[in-house]
Amino acid sequence: MKVTLIINSIKKTYTINPADRLLDTLRADGYFSVKHGCDTGECGVCGVLLDGEIVNSCTLLTAQAEGHRIETAEGLGSRHDLHPLQEAFVDAGAVQCGFCTPAQILSAKSLLDKDPHPTEADIRDAIGGVLCRCTGYKNPVEAVKTVNSE
Ligand code: FES
Ligand code: FES
Repeated sequence: MKVTLIINSIKKTYTINPADRLLDTLRADGYFSVKHGCDTGECGVCGVLLDGEIVNSCTLLTAQAEGHRIETAEGLGSRHDLHPLQEAFVDAGAVQCGFCTPAQILSAKSLLDKDPHPTEADIRDAIGGVLCRCTGYKNPVEAVKTVNSE
């Protein structure tokens, strides 16, 4: 079957198997910021934005995303022109192994797009769905706070 997705504002059509997951379709097309973790919807590192909301791409069929808007970290900034959240994560030392970072940043983006001045509890709630074994969440939370105060 064919599906059309709008990925980082670019319309793309894929020929897929009906059982293909969004995670695999994205990674097969080079969106390697979308990480392959637990495969069971628990770790959140495969998170992408679907119409602005964070979803686990390992538990979503590609066919279910037909016609929807998908955002991945590849669409946020470039190496020489980082998105403010990416810059804040770097500046705050919030990136250690980096495996959780793309999904954490997308989760924070979804939050800030809806509420530019979230509380610390809101930030913790937003990024807490993406498991991080390195940072203890302190620095990522600080990073998001600096963006929301700008
Ligand atoms: S790989 Fe999708 S939630 Fe863990
Ligand atoms: S920075 Fe390593 S898992 Fe979060």
